[in-house]
Amino acid sequence: MILSATNSPAFGEASSGSRAWPGLIEAYRPYLPVTDSTPVITLREGNTPLIPVPTIAEAVGRGVQVWVKYDGLNPTGSFKDRGMTMAISKAKEAGAKAVICASTGNTSASAAAYARRGGMRAFVLIPDGYVALGKLAQALLYGAEVLALKGNFDQALEVVLEMASSYPVTLVNSLNPYRLEGQKTAAFEVVDHLGNAPDWLCIPVGNAGNISAYWMGFCQYYEQGKCDRTPCMMGFQAEGASPLVTGKRVHHPETIATAIRIGNPASWEKAVAVQQSSQGKFTSITDAEILEAYRLLASQEGIFCEPASAASVAGLLKVKDQVPAGATVVCVLTGNGLKDPDTAIKHSNNQFYQGIEPTTAAVAEVMGL
Ligand code: F0G
Repeated sequence: MILSATNSPAFGEASSGSRAWPGLIEAYRPYLPVTDSTPVITLREGNTPLIPVPTIAEAVGRGVQVWVKYDGLNPTGSFKDRGMTMAISKAKEAGAKAVICASTGNTSASAAAYARRGGMRAFVLIPDGYVALGKLAQALLYGAEVLALKGNFDQALEVVLEMASSYPVTLVNSLNPYRLEGQKTAAFEVVDHLGNAPDWLCIPVGNAGNISAYWMGFCQYYEQGKCDRTPCMMGFQAEGASPLVTGKRVHHPETIATAIRIGNPASWEKAVAVQQSSQGKFTSITDAEILEAYRLLASQEGIFCEPASAASVAGLLKVKDQVPAGATVVCVLTGNGLKDPDTAIKHSNNQFYQGIEPTTAAVAEVMGL
């Protein structure tokens, strides 16, 4: 049976009596470590669409059905909001006055929005020059205190871990266990929508928190009898930042997908355990393959995600011959394409006619009419 998301226990009755989405903590409260005294800080995150992508399904072939979980439609434009509503609510409950994170951009935007909404200071440490413009703009406008470090994400994370252990600032990177608790709700939504778990879940992997969170969600729903299987977890990393594929820390990670430009994932062991218990696999894809999938999603499916997110689709296309015939596949699109306008403009293959005279004749000529 196919259930629609609106049938999930999740959809609460708003006080007006209308069916308004209450945010994921209210929607999945029985599955989350919150109590009546937890102050819920929410921007009504979650309940993102699962969208069929027929062009990609056709490219995979053999009757495989493909959906994308478009988590770029969360309030700050990425899946991080799922983890942040939990982490910030729990930080508030514990009386925190300030939070801190290292970030390739999305965590910083999300931490800033939720922390400020909760009346806390947000300190975010980013790799100088390697954060997409939209993400930096968000962190600044939401009111984070942004520190650009002369180093990469892995170095920023080391500093942040020391800061959080020595000073009164709460860590909101995914090493904070509440982050994964919130993020696991994406797996719940996938099962609520499909009526079962997919055969494969394709997901970009950077610091490896999200793959671990999805697995937690699928396992929890499986134990509750909400699905009768768990998916193979297929993790994809950019070739220049693929420690989980090679088994070795990358000291100078490089990729156009700056969100996953990470060489020493914090949840390394967790992710390996997920891969093993789910009989999944880690595979790397090149920047060229990422950009190809990024353009394909936008130009053929009407879905604009950021480059790191397109890694899940690039990965699926790369290993398509390994997908069982007739399988159901969900690719996670972690962030919104608007986050990174520079990459979009630089790597669009489409025509952009500039300097046209403002006359009908000139326009008709360019249109070839
Ligand atoms: N996709 C996007 C758009 C991301 O921003 C990230 C991580 C990932 C995928 C990978 O998820 O780390 O849980 O394996 N971004 C972090 C950040 C590192 O700081 O925003 P992961």
